[in-house]
Formats: sequence, C-alpha cells, structure tokens
Amino acid sequence: MRSAPFTLLLSAFLCAAGCSDSGDGDGGETTGSGGATGGTTSGGTTSGTPSGATTGSGEASASSGATTGSGDTTSASNGATSGSGGATSGSGTGGEGTGGSDGTGGGASARVPAASASTLREAGEKANPPLLIGAAISGGGLGNNDYKRVAAAEHNYVTAENEMKWDALEPSAGNFSWGSADNIVNWARQNNMKVKGHTLVWHSQLPGWMSSMTGKANVEAAMRRHITQVMGHFKDRLDHWDVVNEAVQTDSDTGVGNPRMRPTVFYNQIGESYIDLAFQIAREQDPKAKLYYNDYSIDARNDKVEFVYNMVKGMVDRGVPIDGVGFQMHIGPPNNEAGGADVAANMKRFTDLGLEVLISEMDINRCGGVVTAEEQLTYYHDIVAACFKEPKCTAVTFWGINDGRSWLNSWSGALCNGQSSQSLLFNDQYGKKETYNRVMNALLGK
Ligand code: XIL
Repeated sequence: MRSAPFTLLLSAFLCAAGCSDSGDGDGGETTGSGGATGGTTSGGTTSGTPSGATTGSGEASASSGATTGSGDTTSASNGATSGSGGATSGSGTGGEGTGGSDGTGGGASARVPAASASTLREAGEKANPPLLIGAAISGGGLGNNDYKRVAAAEHNYVTAENEMKWDALEPSAGNFSWGSADNIVNWARQNNMKVKGHTLVWHSQLPGWMSSMTGKANVEAAMRRHITQVMGHFKDRLDHWDVVNEAVQTDSDTGVGNPRMRPTVFYNQIGESYIDLAFQIAREQDPKAKLYYNDYSIDARNDKVEFVYNMVKGMVDRGVPIDGVGFQMHIGPPNNEAGGADVAANMKRFTDLGLEVLISEMDINRCGGVVTAEEQLTYYHDIVAACFKEPKCTAVTFWGINDGRSWLNSWSGALCNGQSSQSLLFNDQYGKKETYNRVMNALLGK
C-alpha cells in the first residue's frame, strides 16, 4: 500500500491520468495537442508535459513519455491500417447480441454466475444478468493476430483506446476523420462485440484549435457540432457513450485534496452547465443510448468521489439524461488504490441514485513498487467481484490486452521508466497470467 506521505509527494509532481497524451503511437494520436498551452488555465492544459518535466528525474522522456519505446511503438502504423476504414456497413452482425446486459438488473437480487466458462467473455455472457467484459482496443493492436485472437475470444465489449477521441475524429474544425475508428467498430461488430464510444467531451487529446477557443457561444457550438456529428456517424452501430470524461480534479491524482471542476476550455467558457448541456445534446441525438460520466480515482471513498457524487446527484435531481457512471479503476501510480469492499460500498451509493455503474478502464500498475504482486492479485479479484455482485454494475473493461502494450509502460506519471507495468491479464506473449485466473474466479462467483 502506498503511504500517505508518499501519496502526497507523488501527487505534487504528477499529472492526472487523463493528461498523459503520452503519444505512444498506437492511436495515431497527435502527441499532447493541448501541450502547447500547458500552464495556462484553459482546456487541454493539464497535459502532463509541464509537470512531468519537473519530476526531478531529469529525464528527457518525462516530457511526454513518447520516447520510452514500449511495445506500442511497433503499432504506430495505425494510420496505415485504416485503409479499409471506409467500409462502414458493418454487415449487421449486431453488436447488440452481447446479451442485453444493458438492463440495469433491477431489483436487489444478486447476479447468478455461470456454472463454468472457458473464457471471460463466456463467464460474462452466461451470468444472470449478463456482464459485459470489455477491453480497450487500439488500431495498432489489430495489426497483430495474437492480439486480435485474445481480444475477441475473451471480450464482448470494446472501447477504442484513442481512435474516437476528439483529436482523432475532428483534427481540424468541422473536418471529421472516421477511418481508424470505423476499423475498430467494424472489427468489433464482426466479432459480435459491443462498442462504447469514448469520449465525446474531454480536456485531453483535444486539438489545439478547440482547446484555445474563446467565447461561450463558440465553444457551445463546437461542442454541439462534435457530439452531433460523432453520434450521427456511429448511430445504429453504437449506443453506449462516455459523454463527459474527467471533469473533476483534486490536488492529488489519488483523488485527495480540494476537489473542484477541472478548468477546461468547456468549463472556462461555458461554466459548469457544460456537463448538463453535453448530456442533453447526446440525448437529442439518441433517445435510447446509454450515456455515461467517466472519471479516474473515484473508485473508493475520497474527496474526488464526494464531489463527483454530488455533481451526478444534482444531474439526476435536475432530470439531466445520465444513465451511469464509469469508474476507470486505474489502480496504482499515480492514481488511487481501492479495496473490494470500498469499491462495493462506493458503487452502491451511485446505484442508489438509480444509475448503472461500470468499471471502465481497469489496470493495476506494478511500477514503482507501490502495489505488490500479491496486492495486485487481491485487487483484481476483489474489485471485479464487487462489480459482479452488483447487478447494476453492467461492464468490466480492462485498459488493454497484454502487458507489453499497456499505456502505463510509456507514461512518465506511472513511474515505469521503460519497465513493464505488468498491469494486465495477459503477458507479452499473450499468455494468461495469474491475474486472469483471479478475474475468472470473480466472474464465476468464487
Ligand atoms: C490513454 C491511452 O491509453 C493512451 O494511449 C493515450 O496516450 C492517453 O490516453 N483515461 C482515459 C483514457 O479516459 O482515454 C486514457 O487513455 C487513460 C486515462
């Protein structure tokens, strides 16, 4: 466990989970689009660049993590794989076939596990109510046959790791680029996997033209156009969306100290009502879609989740169309740690508001020796079990497939310095790790 002083020290230097823009290449993303404006209070400014540079390690790589050369550098060819992206037909395989676990479970009855299962996906599909088993998928990863095989065999729910972020979809104002995202969505549908759109409104990986925009009316209009165009493009293929991501910050990335709205271009120009507005616009686009708020270090009780709880409760009370909350569940440096019982109690408060909850980006970082191997195994089991036991917890998504491709490896905030974060369920050769077994046990109710 991380000690409190260490946490504070760490948090003084490190940047938020979402501010990494680490440019690991697999998303073909532009590196830290907001970075140029770092240090100001406008959007995108929480880019890791300025604070990363002050971590004292003095390493050049602290600037963006882009030079650390993880396995992801091999996947930088994402753009090249998008050649067939124009094929948007998707052939009607119906990602919906993943089992209707959209149902929020209703009632207080516990989820009933499958008697047995040979994949995580099967365990999720055979549970009653079913539980979606997700993974962050990168365009680069889909260039690797082992990656594709494991991803499709073990999961039935996909989040594009970078390809549906603002800078990927609308790199210049009003000009949309769909190829890389369509590739992932089409691959998912071919494999009967559902897709969650990630993410419509976020301060990070936001192109410079957007993060530097001024004027309430301008920002509102740009936000409306983006949400409308993006949801319109994927309509009939996607009905789950992270509408707003990481709108709240604290002094520490662990979710401790002075919780407040993050000063993004949206908040600075529109005010806090931008969040309600984003959900309202999304609802206008798709009356049936599941609309989620998503954030990190809100996984167990702390200052940040108190603030988020009150924010979300206010939305529910005002009738804002929000369906659920995604707990990113990035455990370990620089983010929070959370035990299973705490996660369960925290989820319950949100489900008591009538909302779904999701584990939306789970990984457990071993770098820096903050989380031990044994703790990691316990966390994986207990946290997934907390979701499994809560019928209104509708999905568990892991943030990647195998250790070698984890975003943490190349992000300076994660303390890996080029080492593997050992954070996921599959090793570099795509073999199952003990973390996989613990997750499987949790999904079988063991
Ligand atoms: C990360 C990706 O994994 C990296 O490849 C990218 O460089 C930065 O973003 N919170 C989120 C995700 O909502 O979109 C982030 O993904 C991780 C933190």
